[in-house]
Amino acid sequence: MRLSVIGCGYVGLVTGACLAEAGHEVICTDIDSERIAKLKAGGVPIYERYLDEILRSTRRAGRISYTSDAGQAIRAAQAIFICVGTPPKDSGEADLSAIDNCARQIAAEADGPKLVIEKSTVPARTGLELSRALSAYRRNGDVRFRVASNPEFLREGTAVEDFFHPDRIVVGVEEESAAADLREIYRPILERSFHCPLHNGTCPPGPRADFLVTTINSAELIKHASNSFLALKISYANVLSELCERLGGDVEEVTHAMGLDPRIGGQFLKAGLGFGGFCFPKDVQAFIHLAASVGVDFDILKATDRVNKERIDRYMERIRRALWVVKGKHVALLGLAFKPNTDDIRYAPALEVLKRLLADGAAVHACDPEAISRTQALFPGAHYHKDPYAALQKADAALLCTEWDIFKKIDWERAGKTMARKLLLDGRNLYSPSAMRGLGFEYHSFGRP
Ligand code: UDX
Repeated sequence: MRLSVIGCGYVGLVTGACLAEAGHEVICTDIDSERIAKLKAGGVPIYERYLDEILRSTRRAGRISYTSDAGQAIRAAQAIFICVGTPPKDSGEADLSAIDNCARQIAAEADGPKLVIEKSTVPARTGLELSRALSAYRRNGDVRFRVASNPEFLREGTAVEDFFHPDRIVVGVEEESAAADLREIYRPILERSFHCPLHNGTCPPGPRADFLVTTINSAELIKHASNSFLALKISYANVLSELCERLGGDVEEVTHAMGLDPRIGGQFLKAGLGFGGFCFPKDVQAFIHLAASVGVDFDILKATDRVNKERIDRYMERIRRALWVVKGKHVALLGLAFKPNTDDIRYAPALEVLKRLLADGAAVHACDPEAISRTQALFPGAHYHKDPYAALQKADAALLCTEWDIFKKIDWERAGKTMARKLLLDGRNLYSPSAMRGLGFEYHSFGRP
């Protein structure tokens, strides 16, 4: 099928690349002509495993192309994926102006029937508004639009894997024919009849994805509900870690035992510095706002957000208590990205810690495998190192903020010899307390004795 993708951000690029790899013809467009020029030149504007290789192979096969001319992309496709950003407004409400612009463009440019698929994360009822807008904006009354919702559940760092090996594919439609078209689009993934770059063509046996057909409103709710519930699980674990500190428990053991109950599940119960990234914080806010707009007080999500924000306060209190005077201290900050395997620093807990340390007058020596350049642009006052040992040299304290593999492999006996003080505040419970104390470290972590 001929597909187009409007919006070549993280979701749009991964969607376009993976659908092209699965055999479809995909044309991608974006209002940022520099981004399109970079893609045309073979460059990849984001760091995501396997993405550059797939973009290269599908380009060679002539299945993916890029244009700044949105009209060309719209006319060329039978189905159009809207993957533009829906950033939060100050109120927390999702800003849907980019979706509205897409509706205007599609309505103006379409020269035949189109299936318009919203893939951006949007509040419930957006699809119905989009449908109304397309009819209102269209110039040629004969052109028919069908609208569908197809939320993504991609995690940064494993997005290509998540796209090719989804737990479920959710489609929200008003007409059965739209569901049939989307099933056709995803058939190679549902039947595993595509060359999987992760498994070199032959994927290990495993459960096939469920293809769930529902209404547009329910599909939109499924996305917000799923992300908000995962965020709630994390905040629950973080409150548990405070309880463990006061009651002498070990949060890692508590959440491990909880997770053995399949009704609870062990994932997303890791206590630490809290959740960041461009999804959980904004989706929680947008869902709270959406609920309030229909008279529902989503107070457990408000608590989820409050608990998450307080993680940084807790961590800063510990740092200040351990260092007494922060001003002038050499602090090694290990990890900037909001999680490992991405260069994304949006709403990253580490950046909030960095900001407060600089405000306290600390000499911050930060290290991250991928996120230094984006951070340096925001915080030129810190020192940056690709090598963790360089950041730890002469350090009065080490702070572990993102659990990259490279930090798991640090030889702390060696590093400890170069530090001014063997003090480690582990914000992700990455290390073993007994092992670190065995090396003579003052070691602090969350919710453990
Ligand atoms: C998330 C959802 O997982 C994905 O399905 C959706 O499509 C987009 O949002 P992502 O933002 O990439 O994906 O990150 P994720 O891996 O979910 O982690 C989110 C945050 O939670 C990170 O900051 C991570 O460090 C934190 N986290 C995760 C915890 O603090 N504890 C956990 O147990 C798990």
